[in-house]
Amino acid sequence: MSCFRRSMGVAVVVAALSVVVAGFAAPARAADPAAGKRVFQQQCAICHSDKPGVNKIGPSLFGVVGRHTGSEPGYDYSVANKNANLTWTPEVLDKYIAHPQKVVPGTKMPYGGLANATKRANLIAFLATLK
Ligand code: HEC
Repeated sequence: MSCFRRSMGVAVVVAALSVVVAGFAAPARAADPAAGKRVFQQQCAICHSDKPGVNKIGPSLFGVVGRHTGSEPGYDYSVANKNANLTWTPEVLDKYIAHPQKVVPGTKMPYGGLANATKRANLIAFLATLK
C-alpha cells in the first residue's frame, strides 16, 4: 500500500512537471521577429537589403509581405520570378524559403532553402515588420 501511494505521488509530480514544461514551451512557439532579424542577417542579407529601393544581388525585401512576385521597381528578375504570378503571403513565403525551386521553378535565387520551420516563422515575422 505504501508502495502504491509512493508511485501515485511520483505520477502526480510527473503530471505537474509536464504542465510546467508545456507552460514554458507554449510562448516559445510564437514567432519572434528579433530572432528572425538574426536569421535574415545570417541567411539573406548577403543578397537582399531590408531597406526600401535598395536592390543587391536579389531585390529589396522591404515590403515583401503582401507584394506581388517580380514587382520591385528597378530589379532585373528572371522570367520565372517575373511571371510566377504569386502574392508573397506568409504561407507562400514559408514554402518558398523552405524550397525556392519548388515554388518558383527556374528562379535565379541561388539559395538551397531553410529547413528549420521555427527559423522560417521568425524570419517571416521579421519580414512583416519591413513596411
Ligand atoms: C545568394 C543570394 C541570395 C540569397 C542568400 C537569398 N536570396 Fe532571395 N533572391 C535572390 C535573387 C537573385 C532573387 C531574384 C530571383 C529571380 O529573379 O529569379 C531572389 C528573390 C527572392 C524573392 C522574390 C522577391 C520578389 O520580389 O518576387 C524573395 C521573397 C526572396 N528572394 C527571399 C529571400 C529570403 C527570405 C532569403 C533568406 C532566407 C533569401 N531570399 C536568400 C538571391 C538570394
